[in-house]
Amino acid sequence: MKFESNERQIRSFVLRKGKMTIGQKKAVEQWMSVYAIEPKEPIDFQALYGNDHPVWLDIGFGNGESIIHAAKKYPDINFLGIEVHLPGVGHLLMGIEEHGLQNVRIIRNDAIDMLKLYIKDLSLAAIHVYFPDPWHKKRHHKRRMVNQPFLDLIKPKLEAGGRFHYASDWEPYAIEVNDLLAENLWLRNADDKQGFSPRPEWRPVTKFERRGHKLNHGTYDLIFHKN
Ligand SMILES: C[S@@+](CC[C@H](N)C(=O)[O-])C[C@H]1O[C@@H](n2cnc3c(N)ncnc32)[C@H](O)[C@@H]1O
Repeated sequence: MKFESNERQIRSFVLRKGKMTIGQKKAVEQWMSVYAIEPKEPIDFQALYGNDHPVWLDIGFGNGESIIHAAKKYPDINFLGIEVHLPGVGHLLMGIEEHGLQNVRIIRNDAIDMLKLYIKDLSLAAIHVYFPDPWHKKRHHKRRMVNQPFLDLIKPKLEAGGRFHYASDWEPYAIEVNDLLAENLWLRNADDKQGFSPRPEWRPVTKFERRGHKLNHGTYDLIFHKN
């Protein structure tokens, strides 16, 4: 993976080597060239998927559990997952093969760079950010993915009516994001009371959520649509 931007920008992740299982290694060797892309120019989704179905982007998909769940459930939606962590990419590749999914593509890179450079305006029907690293310590808050520059970046990429769906098990981060989203008048909250939404059927309970529950954390879904 080569980062596109050489500027000293604050990234929302720290790239760790991470141990790969044999299955993940094999999947990367065998399937990376089939399902993963390394864009060099703005992506033509019609050409990439061979159809004009809506595209849902999952940023920082972890091990890909959410994408597998939704891609099985909605075969007429195209899924794009962006993740930096190679073992997670390997895990998703295994799932794509196991379930014979035709509607999933992957980019292994920094999602922020990819959005800036290669995702066309008005090309996404949904953007999902599930359990982004909360960066608990105050001095690390600047690394949190969802902030005003991030919202400015995704605004033009979403179609009219397009969805932004955030989920977290870290209440202070979720409250901060809800307040921020409410200030962005181009978005409207799907919840009548301007608060959290129930978990929708396209988002399964993931490893991170289960871990949060063990620590007595709640889960906070925020679903907003572009006006
Ligand atoms: C806490 S995990 C959550 C994984 C998954 N969304 C879930 O719900 O299980 C956050 C993930 O986001 C990835 N990530 C963080 N910043 C990223 C970025 N800028 N581009 C791509 N992936 C990123 C990390 O590598 C990590 O796998």
